[in-house]
Amino acid sequence: MNDSLIIFDTTLRDGEQSPGASMTKEEKIRIAKQLEKMRVNVIEAGFPAASIGDFEAVQAVASTVKDSTICGLARAVENDIRRAGEAIKPANSGRIHTFIATSPIHMEKKLRMSPDEVVERAVWAVKLARQYTDNVEFSPEDAGRSNPDFLCRVIEAVIEAGAGTINIPDTVGYNVPEQFGALFKHLISNIPNSDKAIFSAHCHNDLGLAVANSLSAVQNGARQIECTINGLGERAGNTALEEVVMAVKTRQDVFGIDTQINTQEIVPASKLVANITGFAVQPNKAIVGANAFAHESGIHQDGVLKHRETYEIMRAEDVGWTANKMVLGKHSGRNAFKTRLEELGIVIETEQELNELFVRFKDLADRKHEIYDEDIQALVTDNNTVMTENESYKLVSLKVSTETGEQPQAQVTLWVEGDEVQATAQGGGVVDATFKAIESMVNSGASLELYSVSNVTNGTDSLGETTVRMEKAGRIVNGQGSDTDIVTASAKAYINALNKLKADPQKAHPQSV
Ligand code: KIV
Ligand code: ZN
Repeated sequence: MNDSLIIFDTTLRDGEQSPGASMTKEEKIRIAKQLEKMRVNVIEAGFPAASIGDFEAVQAVASTVKDSTICGLARAVENDIRRAGEAIKPANSGRIHTFIATSPIHMEKKLRMSPDEVVERAVWAVKLARQYTDNVEFSPEDAGRSNPDFLCRVIEAVIEAGAGTINIPDTVGYNVPEQFGALFKHLISNIPNSDKAIFSAHCHNDLGLAVANSLSAVQNGARQIECTINGLGERAGNTALEEVVMAVKTRQDVFGIDTQINTQEIVPASKLVANITGFAVQPNKAIVGANAFAHESGIHQDGVLKHRETYEIMRAEDVGWTANKMVLGKHSGRNAFKTRLEELGIVIETEQELNELFVRFKDLADRKHEIYDEDIQALVTDNNTVMTENESYKLVSLKVSTETGEQPQAQVTLWVEGDEVQATAQGGGVVDATFKAIESMVNSGASLELYSVSNVTNGTDSLGETTVRMEKAGRIVNGQGSDTDIVTASAKAYINALNKLKADPQKAHPQSV
């Protein structure tokens, strides 16, 4: 076997469904550009029927990305398929991914449709999608709990109707590798027209088996894997792109197949997704965790120094773990800054926006001297110093005091819907005092679910990147902030979350009826 394994990235769709991971159009473009640079074959950019914002984001990605196929998700309903068809129109290569549930529990309790009706609807949906593109993917949702013979019936019919990719989702992460692999074998060998389609695996990680299940599918004939950067996704997440890609690359002896992924772009992609979504990567995460290549124990180090392969099965540099390269500094001019933004795929709409970012860049360079790509990404993500039209709050200034034996105190000045307001509060620490002061002015009624700080680059002068996750009436948002001062970064993250809670419209979930 020397055919290639198609990598279908759904960070911008299934990954975004993770509560709090919702992304703006500009953020989606930045990630899509990185995925394109990484040579991902298919980018699922969103669910265009969810909202106008989602439609525009898919359309913008379709207009920007040239080398990857851009896919839009659609339930097997007319409006979804037409919206997806319109959204992918600007793409050089566009795909519609339509789906309907096929498991007894989903058909009966969610769809309230009979198996015959489901087959009929699936065929109808694929035919409608084919009016927009000849690249149509079909998924029998919850295939992992569906009757294999019923799956054969649906799949044969949708291939006949024009679906070129058949994706088998283990929607609830219930399958185990041997069983999931056997399902692929059963489908491919029993569906008479299975050779007319590419079979794809889409796994969720509820039992921690998403990558193992996907690889088992590959061993049984799957030629596309659906995955996300850092395994981002609802609940326990989706198959992690970096893990499947490196597994097939490292174990050619087992899989006999490779991907077209430029693996050196994996770590930059991981950092970008973590920065934009606020979902940090655990240090011991395979491939992209900070410790993944740290051979710390003395005995291992000795082995690695004597002969690298004693303990290393992959090289850190092959997945993009290079020492941070300084890209700009204190003396870099506006043109150099603009060029670097373009190289990073960062779209700046107006001169005013560029000027504003350049001022912040200069300010950062004064404090930090050496500026890396990660700093620029963090600077762009952190939009808390500019007040956009859909924002209600902005940090004006912050003063904190802390002394051993004294109660920490924060004085915060905010713009609150056009007025400058100030409050002072005390807390267990300066961050706690800062959040309390902000709350006393805003009275959000939201609860703080998570607070985390990490460093963007190395050294104590690094930007600190802060994430807060807040919940109100069942809605969850992540707020991010970065600054060389972590208390300021924390205040910005808190305010960013408050702005999102106020501004973000509710959007439809594709797996709702
Ligand atoms: O997990 C799932 O079933 C999905 C479908 C929409 C393909 O994400
Ligand atoms: Zn899914």
